This record gives sequence, C-alpha cells and structure tokens, in this order.
Amino acid sequence: MTIHIGAEPGDIAPTVLMPGDPKRAEWAAQRFLDNARQVNAVRGMSGYTGTWQGHPVTIHGSGMGMASLSIYANELIRDFGATTLIRIGSCGAMQHDVKLRDVILAMTASSISTPSSNMLRELNFAPCADWGLLRAAVHAAEAKGSTPHVGGIYSSDTFYDERADLTEALTRHGALAVEMETAELYTVAARYGVRALAVLTVSDHLITGAALDSGVRESSFGEMVEIALGAAFG
Ligand code: ADE
Repeated sequence: MTIHIGAEPGDIAPTVLMPGDPKRAEWAAQRFLDNARQVNAVRGMSGYTGTWQGHPVTIHGSGMGMASLSIYANELIRDFGATTLIRIGSCGAMQHDVKLRDVILAMTASSISTPSSNMLRELNFAPCADWGLLRAAVHAAEAKGSTPHVGGIYSSDTFYDERADLTEALTRHGALAVEMETAELYTVAARYGVRALAVLTVSDHLITGAALDSGVRESSFGEMVEIALGAAFG
C-alpha cells in the first residue's frame, strides 16, 4: 500500500493503462479485461487488474493534470513495479488537418512546466515516447483501419487558457494537440527507465471550436483502449 494506492504487492500488473477519468478505468476494465477486480479506490481513484488475451493488465485512473498523474505514475512504477504505462485520453486539436475523433500518438510533449521541472533545474528535458511502444501502436491502429497522427503535442497546466499567442505559436511549430498529462508521464518513465506512450483521441478543436458529443467520446475511448493493448503486447 502507498499513500495514494491501496493495493497489495502483486495487485498491479507490469502493464498499466491510464485514462484520466477513474470511471473510464472501470468502464474499460469491465469491457476489455477478463476477471477484472478493483485494486484501488483511495480518494475515488479507481484501479482494476485483470487479463487481456491472457496478459495481466491494470487500468488505473491518472486524474486530470500533470500533478495528479505524477503521483500515480511514481507510485505505480516505484512501489508496484509497473514497467509499461500507456496514457489513454482526449486532446484538443491544434492543426487544421487533425480532425475530431482522429487518433494521435504523442512522440514528444512540450510544456511550460511539469512537476519534474524543478528537479531538473535549468535543464530543458525533452520527454519522448518509448519507440517500441510507439511503433507497435502505429501497427495496432493501422490494423484497425485507423491512420494515426504521430508527432509532438503540448502538455498544458491550464485548461482555460487565455494566451492565444502561445496557442498560435504552438500551432505554427507543428504541435498536433493539447492535453494535460503526457510531458510528465514521459519524464517520470524516463527517470525510472520504463516504457511510456500516450494514445489520444481528438475531443475538441482549438481552431474550429468543434467538439465531440459524449456518445462518440465513449466509442473513441474504446478504440484507444484497443490500440493501447495492441501496442503493449504487439
Ligand atoms: N483535453 C481535451 N481537450 C483539451 C483542451 N482543449 N485543452 C486541454 N486539455 C484537453
């Protein structure tokens, strides 16, 4: 047991999928895992462990934002031995050719700051996805008939951001989308020498203002789970 995860040693699988929303963790565990059982409920942050095609898998919420994800990623790796962490989440598109529902595989994630920034002092660390996972996720997505965008994203600390000039600069520099967790996930994974990847679907568009309705969000979430599982064991 750790401060934030009420699991016993051995309750967490080496492969952990991390949606932001703990309710999504429950939904995905019920839908995709065999023999899923709840392994965490501390502060309402649900985690479930079961098997997928015979492989042990944990699906554990990260919460919203890098501060929250950082706590769970640190404990899952350091105290429970997780070695593959895949974020599955939504993002806001920042390019015209990235459309609602498109899948984005984040090669890297820019940020203004992460919970790790101060630990790295003046170093401007470049967080990056695990190459083997990224490659396997491309194949898993293509096998499902989806053509993912692969490239850099922006991990923000601010959902309601008024800095239009910053958004515009990121768009000009090719950032595919904005979300709020990946830069810290990749940094923590690098610190411990484990594998990480973010599989995202576009839920809203910063340029056009379009947004998915909740029914479509659920089916696109299921698609991400399948790509993440295919990547982990591909
Ligand atoms: N996640 C999904 N859409 C987002 C947005 N527009 N900004 C930050 N995080 C997001």
